[in-house]
Amino acid sequence: MSHWNYGEFTDAVRKLTDIDLSAYNERQMKRRIDAFLSRSKHQNYNGFYNALVENHELRDKFINFLTINVTEFFRNPPQWEKLKQEIIPKLLELPQPLRVWSSACSTGEEPYSMAMLLNQFMDLKSIRILATDIDEAALVKARKGVYDKKTVKNLSKEQIAKYFDEDEENYYIKDELKACVHFKKLNLLVDPFPVNYHLILCRNVMIYFTQEAKERLYRRFYSSLLQGGVLFIGNTEQIINPGQYGFVSQKSFFYTKR
Ligand SMILES: C[S@@+](CC[C@H](N)C(=O)[O-])C[C@H]1O[C@@H](n2cnc3c(N)ncnc32)[C@H](O)[C@@H]1O
Repeated sequence: MSHWNYGEFTDAVRKLTDIDLSAYNERQMKRRIDAFLSRSKHQNYNGFYNALVENHELRDKFINFLTINVTEFFRNPPQWEKLKQEIIPKLLELPQPLRVWSSACSTGEEPYSMAMLLNQFMDLKSIRILATDIDEAALVKARKGVYDKKTVKNLSKEQIAKYFDEDEENYYIKDELKACVHFKKLNLLVDPFPVNYHLILCRNVMIYFTQEAKERLYRRFYSSLLQGGVLFIGNTEQIINPGQYGFVSQKSFFYTKR
């Protein structure tokens, strides 16, 4: 049997895991996958695929590797400042209760940051944030809400005291803050989207997708927003010609549904 090429491998992986690698930037993804293959001592895609079928642990490791979970609390602080000063006050003028969706939430830092920010405008009890990701392992960590002390550089002393318990090594999200966030698995490329949101965060995941996948996602996010709702994206992900999707660029990285 001849060896598979990258396309044949990604087809097989899609059937096995529901992850459609052909919607991710090929050059970037292929380089990462090839590095993973050689690290796990596989010579070709066929052999590696067979190992993925048989070895669940390897499969989970591979998915985890593909989905690149890097994140932090209040990532890119100036954007969160804009959110607080300019975006949230406008969203609070729309029909309430405020609905927020963190759509590639990784290990939870982003939706928990959102809950802390919203707490400056309302009671914790009134805050409901939907937080989704494709990566089950990341969601397990997010639900636990345990963070290494070295990883919380953007949090103030006051925020830490108010929202976390701590021991020598870790900070633990308090139950009251945890209760604001509902975590759920959702694959942005295949699953149906929830609707009627005031604010959708989709940050630092689009960069991995092809142009076609991005365009489809912008349209789907548009449909999931209320009129006047806002899409908040990552620092390297400006939408080119947002008008074609019905968005108005408000400040960099914030797009309002007309
Ligand atoms: C770099 S993290 C970004 C986390 C956070 N939004 C931030 O900006 O810090 C990218 C996340 O996108 C998730 N992801 C990748 N492909 C996805 C897909 N098809 N559907 C949903 N989430 C996906 C990964 O699992 C990962 O947790």
